[in-house]
Amino acid sequence: MTDKYAVIGNPIAHSKSPQIHAAFAKQTNQDISYKPILAPLDGFEITVHRLIDEGYKGVNVTLPFKLQAFLLSNSLSDLAKVARAANTLTLNRKNIQGHNTDGVGLVNDITQNLGIALQGKRVLLLGAGGAAQGVLLPLWSQNPIYIIVANRNVDKAVEMVNGVQQQKPLPIHAYAFSDIPNEEFDIIINATSTGITDTALPIPNSIFAKNCLAYEMMYGRETPFMAQARAAGAQVADGLGMLVEQAAESFYVWRGVRPQTAPVIAMLRTY
Ligand code: ATR
Repeated sequence: MTDKYAVIGNPIAHSKSPQIHAAFAKQTNQDISYKPILAPLDGFEITVHRLIDEGYKGVNVTLPFKLQAFLLSNSLSDLAKVARAANTLTLNRKNIQGHNTDGVGLVNDITQNLGIALQGKRVLLLGAGGAAQGVLLPLWSQNPIYIIVANRNVDKAVEMVNGVQQQKPLPIHAYAFSDIPNEEFDIIINATSTGITDTALPIPNSIFAKNCLAYEMMYGRETPFMAQARAAGAQVADGLGMLVEQAAESFYVWRGVRPQTAPVIAMLRTY
């Protein structure tokens, strides 16, 4: 019997997840189907329950439903708890289990695909929305020297950092953009949504250290952050690798098998 999986979002037509999971399934000989499902903006929960009734074993969850997926889960992985968001659900009639694989996806893309260690690095995380929250603790688990979180609305950055500090005190600090310490960072990650609106961030070129990695969590086109980082001499990466890595982690959660990501990233880059 083919096991059924899906990705739920709104919009969903653009999603590359069906293509990625089809490639993983072929590569690992797993008998699964994987469909894109458009849920009405007010119909996430009903959609999940319909899929459970239809025998679906799991779903990925994308914008704007990751918080609702977290709230709907009966049990949560530690990373989903910290992120207060779930991008992966394991489903059966008795239980909805929420996971968050975004942070692992980002870390694996940086450390394995790009071959850049986070350990001992000065890290700047731009943004304090859902995307930033999902990756903060997995980034920290790689032992950077410190992480500075900068956000337009500084209160949100402080709240996010305080939330993590409650678990254990860590050298993670919150700033407004205008107060980012006047120093260089080895890894700068853009987790704001400024790529969607084509907006430049109020950051100076002087914060990009020599050999800095500038990582844009969005993919698909050159964003103002990527253009600035390139002009400042940084190595620039977009979020396509993270997308494939978070999918691989979801696949592992569901199937217990780790697919190879490099051929899938290469396939998507040729489109
Ligand atoms: P996501 O789930 O993608 O993180 P979000 O929760 O709406 O979406 O968060 C968007 C992030 O992009 C926030 O950090 C937001 O900053 P604020 O908290 O100050 O709103 C940031 N952002 C959006 N537009 C921005 C802009 N023009 N300049 C700087 N930051 C921006």
